[in-house]
Amino acid sequence: MALYSEKLMEHFRNPRNLGFIEDANGIGEVGNAKCGDIMKIYLKIEDDIVKDVKFETFGCGSAIASSSMATELIKGKRLNEVKQLTNKAVAEALDGMPPHKMHCSVLAEEAVLAALKDYTERTGKTV
Ligand code: FES
Repeated sequence: MALYSEKLMEHFRNPRNLGFIEDANGIGEVGNAKCGDIMKIYLKIEDDIVKDVKFETFGCGSAIASSSMATELIKGKRLNEVKQLTNKAVAEALDGMPPHKMHCSVLAEEAVLAALKDYTERTGKTV
């Protein structure tokens, strides 16, 4: 069996929502001290819905695929759904990840939650 699923490889080769949003109203940046990878998520939220989302990831292939999938999972979603995003959901949507790479999906969960927190701090809204 291949180490990485076809879907993970596809998101690594053709990441969705790559880039940044100039007028983002929620930005989350997280890093993993062990591997040194960094992930940044930009959210454009309107009426409690993620209208747009982009990411910049300086990291491994699994981190890039996780960022891509996480952005796809939250795009167009209501904030109360977004805050329930888990790394497990990201990994499952990628048809699984090797156990030693699960921390890459954790980075995606943390980056989304950090962006959501930034949004609540900027706007004073609660999610
Ligand atoms: Fe660090 Fe993948 S090895 S996020």
